[in-house]
Amino acid sequence: MQNLLDSVRIIGDPVLRRKSRSLIFPDDLEYLRTLVKKMTNTLEVAEGLGLAAPQVGESVRLFIATPDYLDELNGHVVFINPELSPYGEMEKREEGCLSVPGIYEILSRPGRTRITAVDIRGNSFSLDVGGLAARLMLHEVDHLDGILFVDKLSSIKRKLLRGRLKRLREERGGH
Ligand code: NI
Repeated sequence: MQNLLDSVRIIGDPVLRRKSRSLIFPDDLEYLRTLVKKMTNTLEVAEGLGLAAPQVGESVRLFIATPDYLDELNGHVVFINPELSPYGEMEKREEGCLSVPGIYEILSRPGRTRITAVDIRGNSFSLDVGGLAARLMLHEVDHLDGILFVDKLSSIKRKLLRGRLKRLREERGGH
């Protein structure tokens, strides 16, 4: 179980900064199934809300959500090649990330988003979500573009966190 936690990539790891490639059906199906299994186990052990493929070292456009969100997400937990159209008023919420352990900060993002994605069977679907579910998606899709939530903090907040982020990068980032 511990080695699953150790497989989560930490800020400083270059894979977290890459733009991920889209997945192809059915070519990537076997790879996808294995990856989703690994990510599901990792998310469970890490007790996170969501996990994006780059966080386990794979540069592909996929994220998963914890089953806690099943109702809001209409039964979906696996989001492949997601496309977002955020809208609505900006909302302030606290965010954290398994790849930036120990750091939680309030961040402003659009309050709602529409998402179109593909499920594990290769069927595409769309959802319209708000609240925490919207926040989760905006955060996870950023991972697929090499963006971490701390990048979006104000320069003052980033300055205050500089020492802690540097330590994280030095201790765990050089995977
Ligand atoms: Ni994250």
